[in-house]
Amino acid sequence: MPVLSGSSSGPLAEALAEALGWEHHPLEVRRFPDSEGYVRVRTPSIPAVRSQACVLVANTFPDAGIVETLLMLEAIRDVRAGDIGGAYTDDPEARADPVGPGIILAIPYFGYARQDKRFQQGEPISARAIARVLAHHCDGLTVLDVHEATAFNDLGIPVHHASAIPDIGDHLSARVRPDMVLSPDKGAIGIAREVAEQIGCEFSYLEKRRIDAHTVEHQAKDLDVDGKVVAIVDDMISTGGTIMRATEALRRQGARAVHAATSHGLFTGGAIERLESVVDGLHATDSLPNPRAVISAAPGFARAIQRFEWTASLIA
Ligand code: R5P
Repeated sequence: MPVLSGSSSGPLAEALAEALGWEHHPLEVRRFPDSEGYVRVRTPSIPAVRSQACVLVANTFPDAGIVETLLMLEAIRDVRAGDIGGAYTDDPEARADPVGPGIILAIPYFGYARQDKRFQQGEPISARAIARVLAHHCDGLTVLDVHEATAFNDLGIPVHHASAIPDIGDHLSARVRPDMVLSPDKGAIGIAREVAEQIGCEFSYLEKRRIDAHTVEHQAKDLDVDGKVVAIVDDMISTGGTIMRATEALRRQGARAVHAATSHGLFTGGAIERLESVVDGLHATDSLPNPRAVISAAPGFARAIQRFEWTASLIA
């Protein structure tokens, strides 16, 4: 069974194919001089794409990733529908029988996830808008540690959420051995609980108040972190503001060491340098290419992908 990829997730797709015992088939992807994208299922990959269900690993971030993902899904769908001719081939009308549904889109980092509700009148629910468009072009979806899963409800196709949290837990247990796992806000307490239970340590959360898109404040909460090694776990780190404020609050309360771990290391605008001036360690998955990607997202996707009916019997 093929695991396909475009420009955003080649190494992760290769690791996923290896984890599943399948083949990695990178699509041809390039850009025209005017920046528009071009994608193509290479001729040697066509039999594999038509042989069984297939998985496309593709990020929808930044925005160009959305267009590239749609073009790749369209190309894969045409190949599977048997619509495989081309103007410059010997047989421009070449057709084959359709092979049926079985295109699974695996999204390591789903952009627009944080606009998951209407915060003010007149806004779109961007996460739902993007999810709906993608769902029209594939037969199944799996998304890694999405900020809020509700955008993927009622799409009319099977959706199995993937999680790197067990792998983050393994990594922290082996490399950091924290005394306490914290989420930077109450909303992410479930992640902290899961990691802490895996490690066998305590967990809690910090009180967070967002002032605006760039500013968050952590209010003092009665936590006994004095002399402890603390791991803050969050679904994503973008500007790093959340982790900075949380770390400062923990230092004030006497934490001995503070590590930050995340599924999605966006690390915008110099976040790594800023964060590494305050934390003792920064740990991310490879859902997005980033310099602190020390945890593979492949096992999380492998666990989710075997839950689709097309794949269950094909897992090596
Ligand atoms: C917010 O609810 C998220 O879980 C993250 O805490 C937040 O998006 C991180 O953003 P930043 O690194 O910019 O503070």
